[in-house]
Amino acid sequence: MFNSKIIGVGHFVPENIVTNDDLSKLMDTSDEWIQERTGIKERRFYTPGEKGSTAIMAFKASKLAMKRAKVTADDIDAIVFATLSPDYYFPGSGVLLQEMLKMGTKPAIDLRAQCSGFIYALSVADQFIKTGMYKKILVIGSETQSVALDLTTRGRGMGVLFGDGAGAAILEATEDNTKGILSTHLHSQGEFADVLCVREPGTNKGGKVIYEGQHEMYDLISPQMDGKLVFKNAITRMPEVTMEALAKNNLTIEDIDMFLPHQANLRISQMVQRFLKLPDEKVFNNIQKYGNTTAATLPILLSELWEEGRIKEGQLFALAAFGSGFTWASALIRW
Ligand code: UT7
Repeated sequence: MFNSKIIGVGHFVPENIVTNDDLSKLMDTSDEWIQERTGIKERRFYTPGEKGSTAIMAFKASKLAMKRAKVTADDIDAIVFATLSPDYYFPGSGVLLQEMLKMGTKPAIDLRAQCSGFIYALSVADQFIKTGMYKKILVIGSETQSVALDLTTRGRGMGVLFGDGAGAAILEATEDNTKGILSTHLHSQGEFADVLCVREPGTNKGGKVIYEGQHEMYDLISPQMDGKLVFKNAITRMPEVTMEALAKNNLTIEDIDMFLPHQANLRISQMVQRFLKLPDEKVFNNIQKYGNTTAATLPILLSELWEEGRIKEGQLFALAAFGSGFTWASALIRW
């Protein structure tokens, strides 16, 4: 059995910075409300008309990850691509990235687990590596959320939370089983599917998926959420799934060098940190700059830590996420 080592990470965010004050020109909100409730100061949105998409951002993040890992696309055996905002309804963005990277006929697997998408994708890639089927896998979390947000007062509960961006990680097989991904832990609870969702285009009513008129369309394609219920579940499930990972590896909270929570709300991260009794220097947040970039948040965080030279050989990283589905997950990584 092999272990999966992360040998390179990269990220890309659009240049277009949208501040809370920018949003207050579009809807009835304020910098004070947004910062107090979420910690978010600004986020990145694709500039309308600019050539960009979930796959293009993933391509840019992948190029950086490959450069840092000192590999080329020829060395990679497969792609696992997590997103809730694919370029097309189908096929998934994975094949678009596969073509951009000129990867011949190598497989691209698309994965839908929303905010838990990156950890789910790591887990899927890890299983392929463990069995020896693949030696190097490119794992992606990439989101273009700005296009579907209702940026009027009606959609303000969701519109201020999200941003665009992409992150990539390259996993490589190692025979050293003390290093790399130690374990991943995945959960879902479909009874809460309606609590945070985008209903259309969908087949659940067996009817038309194309609608006329912008107004009607926004009701259908923009995300709907019961924020308080999501919040309550997130602050319970993220510590729980972190403890599950530690128990599985006979480790304790004190063994964690760096805790990376999914970036949905700074208040959620702070409460999770408190439950886990982790000191500030071990917890990394960047939601202030990017908002919630869903499947992209964790690889963006990893890539920023890499850039800052804060990832050291032997360190133990704990990643935890919670989101729509509900889905939640954790990963323990020994660098
Ligand atoms: O990754 C998973 C995805 N999502 C999450 O994890 C989000 C989890 N939930 C949350 O983070 C919080 O529930 C929110 C930040 C979304 C909302 O905070 P809240 O404290 O639960 O606020 P609320 O929804 O109860 O709204 C409180 C008030 C309401 O006004 P009234 O009814 O008290 O008059 C809202 O209409 O705040 C109003 N409101 C806003 N006001 C200004 C809602 N959104 C905004 C806004 N600006 N953007």
